[in-house]
Amino acid sequence: MTGKLRFERPELAAKMAASVSGRQKWNSDADGLFLAAPRRTGKSTFLKGDLRPALEALGAEVIYLDFWSNLRLDPAELLYAEISRALLANAGFVARMAERTALTKVQIGAGGGSLAFDPTRIGKAPGSSLMAALRELAEVTGKAIALILDEAQHLTVSPRGEDVLKELKAARDTLNQPDNIVLMLVMSGSDRDKLGRLTNSKAAAFYGSKVKLLPLLDGYYVGWLTGLLAQSNPKLGAINIGALSHAFELLGHRPKVMDDAISNALNPVTCGGLAFEAAVLDHAQAIIRAEYEQYSDRFIARTAMQKAILTVLMESGDTFSPYGATTLKAISDVVGKRATATSVQGALEALRKLDPPMVWKSNRGEYGLDDLGMVDWYEQLTTRGEWPPTA
Ligand SMILES: Nc1ncnc2c1ncn2[C@@H]1O[C@H](COP(=O)(O)OP(=O)(O)OP(=O)(O)O)[C@@H](O)[C@H]1O
Ligand SMILES: [Mg+2]
Repeated sequence: MTGKLRFERPELAAKMAASVSGRQKWNSDADGLFLAAPRRTGKSTFLKGDLRPALEALGAEVIYLDFWSNLRLDPAELLYAEISRALLANAGFVARMAERTALTKVQIGAGGGSLAFDPTRIGKAPGSSLMAALRELAEVTGKAIALILDEAQHLTVSPRGEDVLKELKAARDTLNQPDNIVLMLVMSGSDRDKLGRLTNSKAAAFYGSKVKLLPLLDGYYVGWLTGLLAQSNPKLGAINIGALSHAFELLGHRPKVMDDAISNALNPVTCGGLAFEAAVLDHAQAIIRAEYEQYSDRFIARTAMQKAILTVLMESGDTFSPYGATTLKAISDVVGKRATATSVQGALEALRKLDPPMVWKSNRGEYGLDDLGMVDWYEQLTTRGEWPPTA
């Protein structure tokens, strides 16, 4: 994406960077910034395109990692590899050569600096803990380190990921002083509840921190988009921003989906003879209808027990504890017969094994919906009195 085709949010990013780097006493996020926003609303784009440069402008060495980039590798492995890469990149040519020849103590340059350990063995060899690696990186670069962990809730699905979270907290507490923040942590996720697993129980590594919502792209984005449209399609004349904003809201503030609606509206074959704005809205409604139909089809195909579990999950959100008496009763009420812990567990596992999964599970046995968009779908059908969907 070129600069011109991306709507930039430098002010928002600068504010966040200042709070996460401990430059302000109040509203500080120096303990860690936890940011949630729904799927496809531009989290990764903002983190990489706006927040990363804002942190770099404050002099930080930034490591960005999206845990969804490789779901087959343990998230702990992904993080170690990324930090190792950063260490090697900063250690320079001599160190990289030394790494190739498998030296464990790596000389940096002729001046004689050295890495204290083999950076490819982070988390594996004594003395090369995550904390040691981060401290080393801060020393080698002479900078504070900012770790941006995208889809960080993924760390909670593996036991090693859980360990990494604890190590990160310990590293933060050891390396940071109120007036000298060496390690900044930014964690983002698509699902507030899942990200909340990192912060909201006493056993959670970042207990006490709060998940904040990353502001959604709003009217300013639509204004910018309208400017682009007017430039590239002068024939459209004056464009009604209000109508486009309405379509963008309807589409859940998702830029790419909005682009699809606009592309269709611009196409003389698919615009249906409507005025441009009306055609965008028409396509937006069709897109949402199709998405909801997909939810309905997937839901209808489930067993009665699975349907009951999904319904209770959509109702209860964060408070869902699958084998508690209240949940079992709620599921029993929906399914119309007594649900046991065993039958619920079997159904939950089946929902997790679907491709794509409908249910998400943390390493500690907490469950949630995999796709939070189902909640909007459920709410719309219940409001209209059309629940449950039928074939
Ligand atoms: N500021 C922006 N300007 C223009 N396009 C954007 C902007 N932010 C996001 N997009 C577009 O929206 C789509 C989704 O963006 P992105 O991948 O950043 O969202 P996400 O919330 O991280 O999604 P996911 O939930 O899949 O991780 C991409 O096609 C991206 O190019
Ligand atoms: Mg993303």
